[in-house]
Amino acid sequence: MKRLPFLQFIFLLFLSITSTAIAASKTERFYFNGDKIFSSHSVYTVVDIIGEGAFGQVYLVKNENNILYALKCYKPISQGLLLYSDALREFEKGQLLDHPHIVKTVDYFDFHTYKGENTQNLILEYLEGQTLYLTKKNWLSKKEGLKGLFHFCEALSYALSKNLMHLDLHAGNVMVTSTADIVVIDLASFFSFEELLHYVHSSITSSSSYTSQIINRQLSQTSTFHLKEKDFKAPNHSKLKTFFHHHPKLFQELKQLVLASFLSSPNFSIDEQSKQQSKIANYKQSIENHYFNKLTDLCMAILDKAELDREERLQMKMKMKSLSWNYQEDLLEEIAQPLPFYLDQLNTF
Ligand SMILES: Nc1ncnc2c1ncn2[C@@H]1O[C@H](COP(=O)(O)OP(=O)(O)O)[C@@H](O)[C@H]1O
Ligand SMILES: [Mg+2]
Repeated sequence: MKRLPFLQFIFLLFLSITSTAIAASKTERFYFNGDKIFSSHSVYTVVDIIGEGAFGQVYLVKNENNILYALKCYKPISQGLLLYSDALREFEKGQLLDHPHIVKTVDYFDFHTYKGENTQNLILEYLEGQTLYLTKKNWLSKKEGLKGLFHFCEALSYALSKNLMHLDLHAGNVMVTSTADIVVIDLASFFSFEELLHYVHSSITSSSSYTSQIINRQLSQTSTFHLKEKDFKAPNHSKLKTFFHHHPKLFQELKQLVLASFLSSPNFSIDEQSKQQSKIANYKQSIENHYFNKLTDLCMAILDKAELDREERLQMKMKMKSLSWNYQEDLLEEIAQPLPFYLDQLNTF
């Protein structure tokens, strides 16, 4: 009988510990409805919270003229780390990419929350609607679905013309607006091939291993990729870290390429240099092949939300898959055209 209160006490203690842990695992809100957030251009008033990710939170805000925007608030960056933040990247990519089906960036600034934490804030054009992931089946008419598909390919084709690939293509990074328009978001995930090289390069040279010491020494003498000094301090992109975490094979391949390039003689012969460049070109093609696969998967995800009958949908999906496999075959036979050639064909479905 005496043991019962003790067991009750243990049970209650357990309950309170687990509920505290669950509450702590959810990120606390940085801003609350009605909060005023100041940039050097505008004052934004928080209207609501609309999204959450590993980076922080997305709020619906309005400016002095009651124009609605999305505010992406990035968590404070750990002190002491030289990070070129995703927030700034996203802002810059948005300024560079001017396309009706790629979200636009408007403002970027630091702001101290009520807790005194220094957050990074990005103001984006507000897209009223939901992500493709949350969009219900048959939500788009056949016409809207096909138009969406066209716009999606057109947007990524445009980005490619600026030498950029979106390395986090999934249905959570595509918005379907209330007017059934498709818009690509999460611009910090746009990377050029050179940025991939720089990232892998810096992740090797920043480690304290013996190999990295040799590379660092050689770097001061030569550079196959013609990197400038400032490029050696390549940004620690959390997005690229995640990308390579999910694709370890791509990372290993690129690492081998970079290592081979720096561990060879510092005085490369022309022949060795051109061999190296052709290896890099091959690798670029395998990244592009990977990208095209992701891209066709998303095209199929758009089709899944459109009112098509089973036969029509299957026919279109088969054509897409066939195009993707043809590209792969062309690569194997070393007769592949540049990626835009295949992307243009996808655009005509
Ligand atoms: N411009 C926007 N307009 C409306 N909602 C948005 C906008 N940008 C992001 N969101 C919402 O916030 C979520 C997270 O944004 P996202 O840019 O994908 O961040 P993350 O870097 O965490 O993936 C999205 O899934 C979407 O629901
Ligand atoms: Mg996202």
